[in-house]
Amino acid sequence: MSPVIDIKEVTKIFGRNPERALAMLREGRGKQEIQAETGNVIGLDRVSLGVEPGEIFVVMGLSGSGKSTLIRHVNRLIDPTAGEIFVNGVDVMAMDAAGLRAYRRNTISMVFQRFGLLPHRSVLSNVAFGLEVRGMTHMARVKVARRWIESVGLAGYETSRPRQLSGGEQQRVGLARALAMDTPILLMDEAFSALDPLNRAQMQDELLVLQKQLRKTILFITHDFDEALKLGTRIAVLKDGAVVQVGRPEEIVLNPANDHVEAFVKNVSRARAIPIGAVMEEGQFEPYPVVLPASARCEDALPLFAANDWIGVTDENGVQFGRAGIKEVLRAVGQPQ
Ligand SMILES: Nc1ncnc2c1ncn2[C@@H]1O[C@H](COP(=O)(O)OP(=O)(O)OP(=O)(O)O)[C@@H](O)[C@H]1O
Ligand SMILES: [Mg+2]
Repeated sequence: MSPVIDIKEVTKIFGRNPERALAMLREGRGKQEIQAETGNVIGLDRVSLGVEPGEIFVVMGLSGSGKSTLIRHVNRLIDPTAGEIFVNGVDVMAMDAAGLRAYRRNTISMVFQRFGLLPHRSVLSNVAFGLEVRGMTHMARVKVARRWIESVGLAGYETSRPRQLSGGEQQRVGLARALAMDTPILLMDEAFSALDPLNRAQMQDELLVLQKQLRKTILFITHDFDEALKLGTRIAVLKDGAVVQVGRPEEIVLNPANDHVEAFVKNVSRARAIPIGAVMEEGQFEPYPVVLPASARCEDALPLFAANDWIGVTDENGVQFGRAGIKEVLRAVGQPQ
């Protein structure tokens, strides 16, 4: 399978005359040094990433590490200084104006950190807006919009204005608007970062539930490693515009590539990162009364051990193909000395 989003050696240097900065970057000089000497800011440094169909690919990094710069290349709000971006095999940089318009309407939709809602329109009209632009009839788009408003838990708020809603509710409107576009790719830039912890956890859970049915390809940006571990099929860690590690949550937690990643790993719950499938014993056992899918996190398994010595582990078809015991789970989630 080729990646849906294929980012190849993308470098972005902000500021005029990037040539010297680019040459310095190629010599291995650092972001701060290059900025001090040339005035150019390194946005991205030879980033190569492939996002596979149906995965939630999380890009995680500190403020200023280049996350927004990266996601903006995918919808071509930013042009790279060097490198290429392919989406569904099509070179994004080679699209003409009409091609780009069609791409932004039909292939990708975006959920923004600060919601980006139209203040004078109702919730219904905000969610239906993209469909209106696409030329869908009034009746048809109202029907679609109502469905998505309901699925993000906002039924009853159709006629409200954004300013009458809490931050969490506004974010749901933003999500419904993106989902209503029914595009195969969803770009989410810090979409949940402005929410309080409870609302945020709830939105994360809802996204995971929705994604089970929708199977979209999602590029999700966050500065929160815990969020990355919870949502990510895979995670890329960015630092100073460069990718320092890419892997599944458990790979990153168990094998941080360097001190920078290690510093994040130290502060997170390993139970949240490690799936039960990574610590299970594969084989044919008696069917256990309590089972979890292999992708479930150890965190979800822990309370179940209060009443069970073993938990059955099932594949994507719900068939038990192994088991997990309390000792293995505890060993995996305990912090190493
Ligand atoms: N238009 C611009 N002109 C100049 N420099 C820019 C521009 N946009 C971003 N930068 C710089 O590029 C770097 C990456 O910025 P970016 O916005 O991608 O970071 P981020 O990881 O999204 O951070 P945050 O978590 O704060 O949103 C930063 O050093 C920033 O100052
Ligand atoms: Mg950003």
